[in-house]
Amino acid sequence: MDDFSGGNLTEYLLGIDIGTSGCKSILINGNGEIAGSTLFEYPLSTPKPGWSEQNPEDWWGAVVKGIRSLISKTGVTPSSIKALGLSGQMHGLVALDESDRVIRPAILWNDQRTSKQCDEITEKAGGLKGLLSYTNNRMLPGYTGGKILWLKEEEPENYDRMKYFLNPKDYIRFRLTGVRATEVSDASGTGLFNVKKRDWARKLISKLGMNMSIFPVCYESGEVSGKVASEVSELTGLPKGLPVVGGGGDAVIQTTGMGLIKSGVMGTIIGTSGIVAMGLEGYMDNPEGLLQVFCNNTPSTWHAMGVTLNAGGTYRWFRDAMAQWEMSESEKSKRDVYEILDELAASVPPGSNKLLFLPYLIGERCPYTDPAARGAFIGLGLHHGKGEIVRSILEGVVFSLMDVYKLMKRMGIEVIEIRTSGGGSLSPLWRQIQADVFQAPVVTVSGSGEGGAYGAALVAGAGVGVWSSVEEAVMVLKKESENLPNPSNRKIYKEMYDIYHNLYGALKPTFDALYKL
Ligand code: XUL
Repeated sequence: MDDFSGGNLTEYLLGIDIGTSGCKSILINGNGEIAGSTLFEYPLSTPKPGWSEQNPEDWWGAVVKGIRSLISKTGVTPSSIKALGLSGQMHGLVALDESDRVIRPAILWNDQRTSKQCDEITEKAGGLKGLLSYTNNRMLPGYTGGKILWLKEEEPENYDRMKYFLNPKDYIRFRLTGVRATEVSDASGTGLFNVKKRDWARKLISKLGMNMSIFPVCYESGEVSGKVASEVSELTGLPKGLPVVGGGGDAVIQTTGMGLIKSGVMGTIIGTSGIVAMGLEGYMDNPEGLLQVFCNNTPSTWHAMGVTLNAGGTYRWFRDAMAQWEMSESEKSKRDVYEILDELAASVPPGSNKLLFLPYLIGERCPYTDPAARGAFIGLGLHHGKGEIVRSILEGVVFSLMDVYKLMKRMGIEVIEIRTSGGGSLSPLWRQIQADVFQAPVVTVSGSGEGGAYGAALVAGAGVGVWSSVEEAVMVLKKESENLPNPSNRKIYKEMYDIYHNLYGALKPTFDALYKL
């Protein structure tokens, strides 16, 4: 990642992504080339089953360390950094008191505690149809709106103390600039935003009895929302007054960072979550609320996606729970542990000798909205070893992306090419499984493995005029890999996917019974 190959050496853009497992910071130059990147991890806590929380102070610590180490390892002169763009995990609730202190741990996007509150919001909005008329989206468990109501009902003292709320990357904006603000893509993910008008769904908010004063100001993604404060400049080495643009929610800005602004090319993102997404030139109605239709990172464009909660996260779970041998091998040989696991998976045939994996480790959002759903290995036999288990995890994640892709097709979205990004796109085997399951070419472009940070840097550059627009910014992207579908794997994957697709329905009573225990 330290490679630097020239380009416009005088201007750099800084992208920061507040991910679920860590904070990625990246510097790119005016040719879109990566000068360097850093990743600092932080913990996630699960105080109760289905809960998912983080300490915003941990994010801030990782941001400060990330920026300092990035500047020192790249040797880039701070004054040549022209703007900072933010990306981050969406839908989280950071509650602040009147002195802007964090009241309780942030409740994250993959937290499943708010089903009851989501139902209440939908009912108060006049049912699903009513809700869609305000926001064009369902209120999914995980969205910020349900969390605000949860706080009111379950932690009333904290609710009374809450004077403002922010999403994760917007909390970092606040620490950098002192400005409490968000932008249209993350605002869409609160479930309290009028996506068509690109403004808060004020009528719905008042119906729900929420006070408008707790909501942040909302910018378009490329607009300058604030400037780096002088004490932050001293702490990080960034120039004082550095413009911080609106940025974007990770799922949206990562799609932009793949160059997907217009419809036709579908993006898949394998991060902790799995995303199937596409840019839309115009507004799209979401009649049954099956997809998430959000504002995109350029004015007058939108974004459609379906998000599965368990993608790279399942591979990480397997690594931590069951790959001790591979971890110590990785330490000894200095090889990435996922490379070692991929090798194991590649040693067994497509279809994992008829072993299927259902990836719903933390419940599911799309195509099924179900906090009770859980993971399962189906078809396990004595003839299966670790290779089959690992491969079936990779295949199961792609099958879950296929479920979302099918939903998009049902909505009339046409796909001519697939681009992939996120940590999972760094695995050649996982890319090939995608090509074989989708039976379409799967392409990666520069910046693919960098998460939302790369897109955030591009949007920042467009925001301060390094490029005239985001459309021009994405012209710096270069094709880096292409995996073509192997026709001889079509049959086995079609057969395995068809069986996979029926498993959720078959296991639903079991999931519910376990959930209620
Ligand atoms: C998007 C979503 C995830 C998170 C995780 O709707 O929930 O992409 O933003 O990073």
